[in-house]
Amino acid sequence: MKNTPINRAVVDQAIAAFGIADFGKATIREVKAIAAQAETASGVEFIKMEMGVPGLPPSAVGVAAEIEALQNGIASLYPDINGLPQLKIEASRFVKAFIDVDLRPEGCVPVTGSMQGTFASFLTCCQCDAKKDTILFIDPGFPVQKQQLVVMGQRYETFDVYNHRGSKLHAKLESYLQSGRIAAIIYSNPNNPSWVCLKEEELRTIGALATQYDVVVLEDLAYFAMDFRQELGKPFAPPYQPSVAHYTDHYVLLISGSKAFSYAGQRIGVSCISDKLYHRAYAGLTGRYGGGTFGTVFIHRVLYALSSGTSHSAQYAMAAMLKAANEGTYPFLEEVKEYGRRAHRLKEIFLRHGFHLVYDRDLDDPVADGFYFTIGYPGMSSSELARELMYYGVSAISLETTGSSQQGLRACTSFIGAHQYDQLDERMTLFAEHHPVG
Ligand SMILES: Cc1ncc(COP(=O)(O)O)c(C=O)c1O
Repeated sequence: MKNTPINRAVVDQAIAAFGIADFGKATIREVKAIAAQAETASGVEFIKMEMGVPGLPPSAVGVAAEIEALQNGIASLYPDINGLPQLKIEASRFVKAFIDVDLRPEGCVPVTGSMQGTFASFLTCCQCDAKKDTILFIDPGFPVQKQQLVVMGQRYETFDVYNHRGSKLHAKLESYLQSGRIAAIIYSNPNNPSWVCLKEEELRTIGALATQYDVVVLEDLAYFAMDFRQELGKPFAPPYQPSVAHYTDHYVLLISGSKAFSYAGQRIGVSCISDKLYHRAYAGLTGRYGGGTFGTVFIHRVLYALSSGTSHSAQYAMAAMLKAANEGTYPFLEEVKEYGRRAHRLKEIFLRHGFHLVYDRDLDDPVADGFYFTIGYPGMSSSELARELMYYGVSAISLETTGSSQQGLRACTSFIGAHQYDQLDERMTLFAEHHPVG
């Protein structure tokens, strides 16, 4: 057995201590804990790429607004369940400024992060029509969203978009919609974990089929405008963040404060419900609640039951961040472009040592450099690669946990420190030596 930067026995013991039979199925939190344990036991620093949390300071605009709001005494008051009026107005303007879509402030509803936005959306969508009881994931995706459905006991179906890009997407999507059981379609764009960005033609297909089969689209924009191949950060000017909102009338856009504004700790996002969907009454909702529309049920029944609104001060922060972005005084994307620069350097190192990108293209274009990227190594399964890299002090999660049917790992750029590129280069030199290809 070759010497590795972390003694194999140390990693094996840490994995065994967690009772994990297949490392490819380990959750993000488990990988993090095992890496921490192996790091302490070995005294060797890990290059941590498993967690998808912001690695940058929070938006100063948000922090200042939140402090001011707290000093003004808002902490004692329950927030308006509909959301802070100025936040609703700025969110509506934000959607116009950066997506070029008209959506009334009424439909822009603060939530305790997109996580709550998807939970409330899944619940509401599955209650509209008794026949439509299933959520369809265009995967790979964010594992916790499936966990939400398990928690609420709701069905879901999923397919890996890898082999169904472009013109192939139509037939694949339709094969699920034809069952008549799909209540909503969800995907993230840019995508966690693959950083794939769906193209306009693909969004058009999703929108057209959603309209045809009367299905709601949940567009998860957790990484809003973070496709750094284009300058998406200028308000009220093209190019805009691509969106299904241009192609169907029944959608919820999930905008998060967590990544674009590095504001994850305060749990704030806005769910933007399209005007038509907001005002649509459904037999299932009328039967269950005695009245209401999608929008009013979402707010006054579901969110009210879940958390009675969203932290008051965080709403002030989000309102201020969106306002400054809308007015062009806060170039929010400039701060997070750092992730793209890191991805560029990290990918170069991995590729030079025999790795390949798993999700490597958006049709004709190479995928962008951003928050995540995906890597594979010839002849290794996701599970083997995830475990093997741990011996070299590199932690990342297997694609298996994300609904992907490809072999490889998701690597996140957010925790990489300046000194770790050389470290990674050395360790991957050794890795390649120990694992000759061919
Ligand atoms: C695709 C996706 N959706 C939603 C979220 C959660 O966002 P929030 O912090 O707003 O709940 C994340 C966070 O990692 C994500 O990657």
